[in-house]
Amino acid sequence: MSDKTVILECKDIVKKFGGLTAVNDVSMYANKGEIVGLIGANGAGKTTLFNMIAGVFPPTSGQIFFEGQEIQGKKSHEICRMGMGRTYQIVKPFRNLSVLDNTVVGALIRDSDVKKAKKKAMEVLSFVGLDHRAEVSSGNLGLPELKRLELARALATDPKLLLLDEVMAGLNPTDSEKVIALVERIRNELGISLIVIEHVMKAIMTLSDRIYVLNQGNLIATGTPQEVSVNPEVIKSYFGEKRYAKN
Ligand SMILES: Nc1ncnc2c1ncn2[C@@H]1O[C@H](COP(=O)(O)OP(=O)(O)O)[C@@H](O)[C@H]1O
Ligand SMILES: [Mg+2]
Repeated sequence: MSDKTVILECKDIVKKFGGLTAVNDVSMYANKGEIVGLIGANGAGKTTLFNMIAGVFPPTSGQIFFEGQEIQGKKSHEICRMGMGRTYQIVKPFRNLSVLDNTVVGALIRDSDVKKAKKKAMEVLSFVGLDHRAEVSSGNLGLPELKRLELARALATDPKLLLLDEVMAGLNPTDSEKVIALVERIRNELGISLIVIEHVMKAIMTLSDRIYVLNQGNLIATGTPQEVSVNPEVIKSYFGEKRYAKN
């Protein structure tokens, strides 16, 4: 891959779980400095795509390039060390560890010197607004703070690309707004590229430079938030379902 502006590219990615094709021939890319949105109804294959990009499991077929290097088949810790961070849909900190120690675990991937890792962790906690909670046990955090900790843990690994899997899920509109602002700062101040899975439409429309829409494993649309929001197939498969879900 010669294009230096592309940080991540997926080519013809397929993932089969037994008889189920969870991701069907998906190609997509993210440029350096971009915030790319990934949307689609439940079960569309979004998390599965993240799992392949982050090396949780390999694709059944297809190629994934990170900064021009093929990474499909590499282990998640190798990919993390190359500069890719992620958060999980199900937040899973070590609940018996303090907020600081949870974040240090992320920083230690980059630097095995505990003192330096602690310094890095404190910087990151301050960035996400959790420094005043550093000594608190993670088990005592509420959901908005847990989501911030999840972001801090990922940021502590010093990523160039960050994959966010529904970091706003379950938050009220006020807390969502704060996370939207934080994600914008991650891109603008830290220069980190992001791919964001989100059900909160306002968030995805506000944040994304471009959006990909998955439906039952297939990529059905891509474009700017404006283009995607008026795409008839997207309205039918995605917004249609949302309206249905509200009734
Ligand atoms: N590890 C797995 N084993 C078997 N089926 C899976 C696994 N992970 C996901 N799936 C299935 O793949 C499809 C896509 O799931 P997922 O990627 O979690 O969707 P989304 O994140 O878009 O809601 C679903 O039908 C889901 O049940
Ligand atoms: Mg998911």
